[in-house]
Amino acid sequence: MRDEIIKKTKELLPKEPSLNDYDKTYQSFEWKQAYKELDWFEDNKINAAYNAVDRNAQGDRKNKVALYWESDDGQKLKYTFLDLMELSNKFANVLKNLGVERGDRVFFFLPRVPELYYGFLGTLKTGAIAGTLFAAFGEQALFDRLQNSAAKILVTNKELKERVDKIKGDLPKLEKILLVDAARGDRGALSLPREMSGASEEFKVAHMDADESAFMLYTSGTTGKPKGIIHQHLAILHQHMSAKWALDIKEDDIYWCTADPGWVTGIAYGILGTWSLGAATLVYEGRFSPAKWYELLQEYDVTVWYTAPTAIRILMAAGDELPRKYDLHQLRHLCSVGEPLNPEGVKWGKKIFGIPFHDTWWQTETGGILIANYPIMDIKPGSMGKPLPGIIAGIVDDNGKELPPMREGNIAIRPGWPGMMQKIWRRQQKYESCFINNWYISGDRGYKDKDGYFWFIGRADDVIKTAGERVGPFEVESALVEHPSVVEAGVIGKPDPIRGEIIKAFVILKDGVKGSDKLVEDIQKYIKKHLAGHAYPREIEFVNSLPKTRSGKIVRRFLKAKEMGLPIGDTSTLVE
Ligand code: PRX
Repeated sequence: MRDEIIKKTKELLPKEPSLNDYDKTYQSFEWKQAYKELDWFEDNKINAAYNAVDRNAQGDRKNKVALYWESDDGQKLKYTFLDLMELSNKFANVLKNLGVERGDRVFFFLPRVPELYYGFLGTLKTGAIAGTLFAAFGEQALFDRLQNSAAKILVTNKELKERVDKIKGDLPKLEKILLVDAARGDRGALSLPREMSGASEEFKVAHMDADESAFMLYTSGTTGKPKGIIHQHLAILHQHMSAKWALDIKEDDIYWCTADPGWVTGIAYGILGTWSLGAATLVYEGRFSPAKWYELLQEYDVTVWYTAPTAIRILMAAGDELPRKYDLHQLRHLCSVGEPLNPEGVKWGKKIFGIPFHDTWWQTETGGILIANYPIMDIKPGSMGKPLPGIIAGIVDDNGKELPPMREGNIAIRPGWPGMMQKIWRRQQKYESCFINNWYISGDRGYKDKDGYFWFIGRADDVIKTAGERVGPFEVESALVEHPSVVEAGVIGKPDPIRGEIIKAFVILKDGVKGSDKLVEDIQKYIKKHLAGHAYPREIEFVNSLPKTRSGKIVRRFLKAKEMGLPIGDTSTLVE
């Protein structure tokens, strides 16, 4: 069904899209032309947080709601742009009082609470680098990230701090912990509310060079510990333009990005690019449930919705009757990111909401959307769409030579767009290895069809995508071998109809230990606690040996082929 097309007729375009002629804009656009979309200080410097919030708070959007927040237990709060400016200023003053300086790393280990949003902005205002940590992380994942980044400040809550307490003795660079939910300081931590209450609402925002570091996110590759991807202040230009063109955000939109700021989507399109356009954003702290999500869409009159394929598949599985109980007519644009969106998902959007889902493709490293389906453009369901204006995308071979249409190769991007990672924290060589022949090599494989649409095939490496979340097999394997019963482990992503992939581990047990269902559960619990709630193997198989190269590297490709009943390929380099 690859030749199927959803034509963008008038009824599929409830509003005139901001990008109303893709080909013309693509051919003429250069990033420099868009510099005027940002507010620059007189000295030609910028600050991403100033652009996201302050310029709105100082103009006509001052009293406009920027954030609708709903807690897990139903508490509802609203914040205007002015509120966000003042709160982020106060937070910036708190950091300054604690001695935070330009370039220091300030990390957030929090669920989706308001403090995370204004704290992130406040950090950028000081010139420090803001980092986020997904609240499902366990001790080992936290330790690796806080140690590698040499974070100076950590903002968390009382519950999550218990995990931090177990590791903080080994983090000599971590000077202060701020608790968002403590009225007073507690066991080596400060109360954020208390510090905020004494802080001024005025703050002189740091003037940053466009290429100075703004925020960092750890992401998993196929080997080694996670890498700290650093983005520059100018990334907001890419996020702003792509939020305008791909997400079609307008200032009167009520926009819901379901991603957590622990991941890049929650930052680029949950804080920076979308507030920069002056839209109101909904944040729901609670967990996913189909009925609750429909209720939120209805109650907040959400107009633009950015979510992920796993969520879409779960909603589909919950049945078509459920959404019909809600009034969702105000939804006018639907987008998806994070993993392949099946054609059925695209079309289901049209059936239920009257408009299809629009797939967008990008990565933590790319800082913003690179390839997308735009409201104005016909959709070929299953395709990721076409490159954003300003982005040159190609399919290249392993030497960086561009391949003709319909040939499978590496999805690659010409370097130099504003959201491109600026560096990998303390891993210059690793950074350089991402570029070949003046192309950024994404690690994804795909092809381009004759009409210029890009199609995703899979990862070129062993990185796992489970429910849209990126998990490095090495991190899981390292955590598994810490378990007292485990000697060795090999981890793969196993295709799953709902989650895209699930994590499957092949485990060699210590001599004398017998595999059992109870042990499986025990190992799973161990990984959830030590590594992360989302990164545990849903399947564990006990084996006597693992396929390895002569140098002792586990060959996951072999495990995967065997699991899926596919040809195993060349085994000449294996010893077992
Ligand atoms: O493999 C691709 C997959 O997610 C990877 C990037 O993951 P992460 O850095 O966590 O960023 C996710 C949010 C931007 C990519 O290398 N991926 C992302 N979007 C798509 C996708 N795979 C297929 N189709 C997509 N639309």
